[in-house]
Amino acid sequence: MARRKKIYEGKAKILYEGPEPGTIVQYFKDDATAFNAEKKDVIEGKGVLNNRLSEFFMTGLNHIGVPTHFLKRLNMREQLVRACEIVPLEVIVRNFAAGTMSKRLGIEEGTQLPRPIVEYCYKDDGLGDPLVTDEHIAAFGWASQQDMDDILSLALRVNDYMSGLMYGVGIKLVDFKIEIGRVYDGDFQRLIIADEISPDSCRLWDMESGQKLDKDVFRRDLGNLTDAYSEVARRLGVMPKSAPVTKPTLIN
Ligand code: CDP
Repeated sequence: MARRKKIYEGKAKILYEGPEPGTIVQYFKDDATAFNAEKKDVIEGKGVLNNRLSEFFMTGLNHIGVPTHFLKRLNMREQLVRACEIVPLEVIVRNFAAGTMSKRLGIEEGTQLPRPIVEYCYKDDGLGDPLVTDEHIAAFGWASQQDMDDILSLALRVNDYMSGLMYGVGIKLVDFKIEIGRVYDGDFQRLIIADEISPDSCRLWDMESGQKLDKDVFRRDLGNLTDAYSEVARRLGVMPKSAPVTKPTLIN
């Protein structure tokens, strides 16, 4: 059998050509990076957890009418997704101050924001994904005004869905990042949620203890990352208790 074609390898995932045109296989690696890849490690089991968690969130979003690229999970580390053109923006939604917002504006981490705040960063690792405004986005043609209206509405719907889901299991959704894909249906184009939604791209704090259950555990050396992600999966009922998250898997 011919080896399938690798399309792209990123920091945490590899994309392969899918079995049918318009599809892509998204493989979740165990690699963890932070601070624009200055800090790196391999965290056994992380890819398996993120594959399952992203499947869970995106399936839920699809069901409530928020379109995503997710089609189906293939195995422990891979999922089939719709091919799309990625809008070169990282869309960040914040409910509580943390991370770069706290640093930039001098707001104590954990402060509840008066309303969810949506920020846009230009997707460019070389530049460290700089914060940009609607003006940059329009002037450089990264997205149209109609796209921006749709992106804002998608981002806020994802926020409501994810906040509610997390609230139900005693977790505070502090902030998260999503990426947006463009797909074409005949003459029409539509925007969908792409990439992944997982504890790698969210800040999740236990509502009682404040314990961090997201990638900050790795960024700030706060303990075992897979334990934190497993706890999120366990509370959401995502991973069957007996699933061997750390065992290597056979990839076809
Ligand atoms: O995470 P960091 O402090 O570098 O940046 P942030 O702007 O405070 O991140 C806001 C949220 O977006 C956090 O949940 C990050 O995990 C997520 N994010 C991400 O997933 N990928 C990026 N390149 C930047 C932020």
